[in-house]
Formats: sequence, structure tokens, C-alpha cells
Amino acid sequence: MTQRKGIFSGSDPFAIARGWLQEATRTEPNDPNAMALATVDADGLPNVRMVLLKEIEAEAFVFYTNYQSAKGEELALNPKAAFVLHWKTLRRQIRVRGIVSREDGKDADAYFASRSVKSRLGAWASAQSRPLSGRAEMLAKVAQYAAKYGTSPPRPPYWGGFRIRPVEIEFWADGEFRLHDRFRWRRNPDATGQWKIERLNP
Ligand SMILES: Cc1cc2nc3c(=O)[nH]c(=O)nc-3n(C[C@H](O)[C@H](O)[C@H](O)COP(=O)(O)O)c2cc1C
Repeated sequence: MTQRKGIFSGSDPFAIARGWLQEATRTEPNDPNAMALATVDADGLPNVRMVLLKEIEAEAFVFYTNYQSAKGEELALNPKAAFVLHWKTLRRQIRVRGIVSREDGKDADAYFASRSVKSRLGAWASAQSRPLSGRAEMLAKVAQYAAKYGTSPPRPPYWGGFRIRPVEIEFWADGEFRLHDRFRWRRNPDATGQWKIERLNP
């Protein structure tokens, strides 16, 4: 069994991730929950963009977006993703690879309702990832939806969450002379689903 101490200790990788994110909220100037999310398109060509990690659940990571966006369509075709959270001031990263499913139920409703009215109207107005003639077109749509929904826009049917259930999580911390610490947690594919933890060369 690999010896893990300090920031790497614990038997639940989601708890470790929560702890690191909590530390990052104190050290990062903004968006400590920003992560680079990778998907692949129909040709197998990778795509990557930043999104905000909104929830670390008992067994999964959740972010929210437009299902008709490029990432939404890529995930509909191939429900697998990878992401990395990187904290410059902490000099740490967490890498995750996993299987994706939609969160378009009550959690998505609750999160959407928690957003400002302007952000909710923006979700209606933005045909995310599709061509736009100019800012005026978008602002006109915001005004149109404001007239329709007032101060309580409901969650659009094409907007919601994705839940990433990891098969692999790596915790990485900067070490002197590039001798970084890396611990990879891999889920056993058998019924037990237990994590196998290995220390990796930097
Ligand atoms: C720090 C940061 C956080 C972002 N968070 C989100 C997010 O949570 N959801 C989202 O749909 N787009 C978010 N974006 C915008 C995306 O990076 C991207 O431009 C958009 O989702 C369209 O991506 P796609 O065309 O690959 O689907 C964020 C951008 C930045 C820079």
C-alpha cells in the first residue's frame, strides 16, 4: 500500500478534492472552481474549454451548460470527458477522467433558480456555440425573454448539468526540482468498484 501523507491522505478521493478546492477558494484571486473540460467530437478530435465545477457529490463532479453547445453535442455522442483543475498559487492540479450523464432534474432546477435573473435570461438568449450576427441580436433576445418571463425565467429545456463519474482521479502537487508528487486513483472495473491507488513518477 502506497504511503500517503498530509494533503494526499484520506480514503475518499472526493473528500480530498473538496478539501483542495476549499483551500483554493482562499488562495486563488478568482474562479477557484474553473476547470478545463475535454471532450471529443464525432471525428475523435479533442476539444477543450473552461467551465465551472459546481458540485462535488459523493461519487461525481457536476458542471452546468447548454446541451446544444459544442460540448453538449459532443457529450451526447460520446458521454466521456476529462477535466483538470489547476491552482497556480497552490501549485497543484487534480485530473479526472470519467463517464458522463445529464443532470436535468431537480438539482439543475435548483441551481438554475439560484442564478441571477440576468444570468437566467442569458441562458435563454444564448444559442451557445452557434454563429451570432452581432451583440445587438443577442441583446434583443435578452429583452424579448425579459418581456416574456419577467423576473422568474424557468430553466430552459436545453440547459442543465452534466455529472462526471470518475474512473480515474489524479492528485498532483508541485515538488522541488520538478520532483512532483502524483497519486493516481483508479476504480477497479469489477463489482466492488474499489479504488486502486498508485504513486506515479513525476
Ligand atoms: C473561467 C470560465 C468559466 C466558464 N464557465 C462556464 C460554465 O460553467 N458553463 C459553460 O457553459 N461555459 C462556461 N464558460 C465558457 C466556456 O469556456 C465556453 O466558451 C462555452 O461553454 C462554449 O463552449 P463549447 O462551444 O465548447 O460548448 C466559462 C469560461 C471561462 C473562461
